[in-house]
Amino acid sequence: MITCIGAGPGHLDFLTRGGADLIAGADVVAGFDAVVDVVRPLLTTQTVVTMGYRDQVEKLAGVAALHHAGKRCVVVFMGDVHFSGFQFLERVETACGHPVHTLPGISSAQVLASRARVCFDETTFLTFHRRGDMAPFKAHLRDVLAAGRNAIVIPRPWDFMPGDVAAFLLGRGVSSAHRAEVWENLTRAEATWTGTLGELEGRTFSDMSILLIRALRPMPTGLEGEI
Ligand SMILES: C[S@@+](CC[C@H](N)C(=O)[O-])C[C@H]1O[C@@H](n2cnc3c(N)ncnc32)[C@H](O)[C@@H]1O
Repeated sequence: MITCIGAGPGHLDFLTRGGADLIAGADVVAGFDAVVDVVRPLLTTQTVVTMGYRDQVEKLAGVAALHHAGKRCVVVFMGDVHFSGFQFLERVETACGHPVHTLPGISSAQVLASRARVCFDETTFLTFHRRGDMAPFKAHLRDVLAAGRNAIVIPRPWDFMPGDVAAFLLGRGVSSAHRAEVWENLTRAEATWTGTLGELEGRTFSDMSILLIRALRPMPTGLEGEI
């Protein structure tokens, strides 16, 4: 049994009770250092395998070997597995040689939606924190804004950060008047910047930042004129 569990972002309060039970009952808990640190208060006798970008393939091979030896293994993911976590999930499944279970967590995008009060129905989520060709995702971001939707964007350290996202969009004819917010270190030492897309260009933020670009006009709620 091996399960990939969303934990955080940033704080144990944002781990589901089901996830906490699986971690507490596991023989092996693995993940990136920063994410394992979030669940560390739940660790007692578990074997802990921490990793970074450079050694993740090698470390996951070790976790897969323990899984195949019959150990109950958990791999913890930052936030929700299903937003900007699928490439790491693919690495886990490649190491194991088969599909694995996932348990959803709470994404930084959800925490941002709560802080900034935006409705999922009217918002598109995009991540640039991924390997591979970003061109289709960039085009999609421009189209989302043209369609009058909000966008919640995970930038890519360090070549497509919020300021670069703004520069890209402005260069594609998107209005500089869109309201934008950058939230850093959600659930920890939170910081917020608010302004327009035009003002965002050239600004710098940490790698723990997530960007909201609001539609130029809020969508009708659908309740106007209710009888
Ligand atoms: C590889 S993505 C993983 C996202 C994660 N799966 C989620 O659902 O939040 C990592 C990026 O998510 C964003 N992120 C994660 N936790 C955050 C937090 N507490 N505050 C702000 N941004 C965060 C940052 O942009 C970070 O570089």
